[in-house]
Amino acid sequence: MKNKIYEFYRNYYDLDNLKIGISNNDMMFLIYDDEFNYYIKNTRFLLENLGEDSILTICNKLNTKYQLNILNYYPVCRCNKTIVMAFRTSVVKSSILKKVRYSDLKGHFKKIVGYHINNFKQQFDSNSLQTEIKMSQKYINRYKFHENYIKKYILTKRKRKKSEFAKLLNQLIPKGKSIIDISCGDNDDIFDMAIEKNYDVIVGNDIGINYLKTHSEKNVIFTNDNIIKSNMKTDAFDVSVCKNTLHHMNSKEKMIKILQFMDKISKQIVIIEICNPQKTGGLPKFLNKYLYTKFLKDSGHCYIDWGEFKELIEGTLTNHRITYSNFENILGNFMVAKIERV
Ligand SMILES: C[S@@+](CC[C@H](N)C(=O)[O-])C[C@H]1O[C@@H](n2cnc3c(N)ncnc32)[C@H](O)[C@@H]1O
Repeated sequence: MKNKIYEFYRNYYDLDNLKIGISNNDMMFLIYDDEFNYYIKNTRFLLENLGEDSILTICNKLNTKYQLNILNYYPVCRCNKTIVMAFRTSVVKSSILKKVRYSDLKGHFKKIVGYHINNFKQQFDSNSLQTEIKMSQKYINRYKFHENYIKKYILTKRKRKKSEFAKLLNQLIPKGKSIIDISCGDNDDIFDMAIEKNYDVIVGNDIGINYLKTHSEKNVIFTNDNIIKSNMKTDAFDVSVCKNTLHHMNSKEKMIKILQFMDKISKQIVIIEICNPQKTGGLPKFLNKYLYTKFLKDSGHCYIDWGEFKELIEGTLTNHRITYSNFENILGNFMVAKIERV
C-alpha cells in the first residue's frame, strides 16, 4: 500500500526502526484496546491493503469490517519498510479477530507489541486527556447541533466576523509548502486559507477522532496525535497553527510543551487564543458558561489573559520575532501571536 498515507508517515515522522524481518508489506495495523489486549487475524496482525488515500476512511472501513470503535490512531515504528500503525479501540465485536495478550504472542509480533507497550503505554495516561477524548465521543451530537444550527442561525458568520477573520489569517499565514493545525477540532478555517495559498501538504491534527471529517481536497491529511507526545519530525512543516487550544492544557507546563513542540516541527508559528472570558465579561462570559461549558461540555478551563499569554510565549520562545495582534467578535477577544525563528 505505497500510497499517500504511507508516504506521509514516512516523511513527516521520526519513527524508530525495529530490526525485525518484516518488510514485505508497507503498513501493518496493530489493533488494541484500553487493557492492552491485541486483536489478530489468522494468528497474524493485520497487514491489510485497504487501498485508501485517507486514514479516516481506513478507520471507517476497519470499524465496519471488524465491528470496532476506533478511538485513536497513530504511527508506532518502522520495521524496515513496513510502517506500524496503532488503532486503539473501545470495543471489538467481530469474532473474525482473536484477542491475545502480550504474554501469548511469539516471535516478531511479540517484539513489536513489546515496543508498543513500552513506548506508548503513557500515550493517553493523563486524566485530562482521557476526559478530553471521552467528552469528544459522548457529546459529538451536541457539536453537530452547534455546527448545523447554533452557528448557522444564532452565532452567524456575520456575528463571528468570519470574513474579517479570514483577512487576518491571510496576513498571518505566509506562503509555504506545508502547514499543520495542531488541534483543528471540527474547524476548517486553516484548511481553507492553506488551500487558497496553494499549500502542498495541509495537516489537521486533533486528539478527538470524531471531530475529524474527511475533506474533499486531496492534500488535506488528518492525524490523531496527542500533541504533548507526538513524534513528528523536526522542521517537518513551514507553519504550525494552534487555535483556541492553550486553555485545554490544564497546566502552564503543558502550554509550554505545546509551544516547544510547535517550535520543533515548524519555522513559523501562529497562535490564536481566546482571552479569559471571565475577565472579558458580558456575552463571552455567558457563552463560555452556558454554551461551551454546560452544553458542549468543553473540557478546557485553563484560560489565560494578555499578560499571561505574552509571558508564556516570551518565556518559552526566546530568540524569536513575535508580533502580536488582537481580534474581537461575539465570542470574545482573541489574542494573536505570529512567531518566527530569528
Ligand atoms: C476549543 S477546541 C478548538 C478547535 C479548533 N482549533 C477551533 O479553533 O475551533 C480545542 C481542541 O483541542 C483538542 N485537543 C486538546 N488536547 C489535545 C491534545 N493533547 N492533542 C491534540 N489535540 C488536543 C481538542 O480535542 C479540541 O478539538
